[in-house]
Amino acid sequence: MITLKENFYRLLHPKVVFLLTSKGKEGKDNVMSCAWATPASEEPPKIIVCVSKEHYTAELILESKEFAINIPTKDMVKALWICGTKSGREIDKFKEANLRKIKASKISAPLIEGCVGFIECRVTDTVDAGECYAFLSDVIEVVVDEKYFKKYIWIDGAIPMHLGGRKIVYFFSSK
Ligand SMILES: Cc1cc2nc3c(=O)[nH]c(=O)nc-3n(C[C@H](O)[C@H](O)[C@H](O)COP(=O)(O)O)c2cc1C
Repeated sequence: MITLKENFYRLLHPKVVFLLTSKGKEGKDNVMSCAWATPASEEPPKIIVCVSKEHYTAELILESKEFAINIPTKDMVKALWICGTKSGREIDKFKEANLRKIKASKISAPLIEGCVGFIECRVTDTVDAGECYAFLSDVIEVVVDEKYFKKYIWIDGAIPMHLGGRKIVYFFSSK
């Protein structure tokens, strides 16, 4: 056994990595790569997403109290890298990563074309969690592509996973 306090969170990876979309009060929208999310309650359906206070995304979610989780396919790893290493404060990441916005059904933040799962969320409580805000949120709409998600399980190799840190993404396979 070794002690590993500063990297404790890596014991909880791999995690599904997704594109987190947001839109601020003035209509500016953004997308960032994110893995720190967990279901918090089934009834009512709730999720917690943790976003660094320094990120532009945190600023936009604080303003609008809304966001969307967009689950990409393994073909979108380059976009995950761009959206996970650059800030929307400096560039338009939708353009840079070649991501097309589509309209969400219940919130004003956009969804991303080509993603295979979408969860639209409205923030109910914002917890100051240290370096991050933990956004406890109601799940208000969920859509998934049944070609990729069968009997409540992602099919092998369809979606990328995050091992921890900023650079490590690999493809899940149960084989
Ligand atoms: C695979 C991956 C997963 C990430 N997960 C998170 C996360 O869960 N929470 C977080 O605050 N940042 C996470 N990041 C870092 C942000 O995506 C990154 O700092 C981004 O540039 C912030 O963008 P923004 O300033 O436009 O909001 C992750 C990055 C990568 C590459």
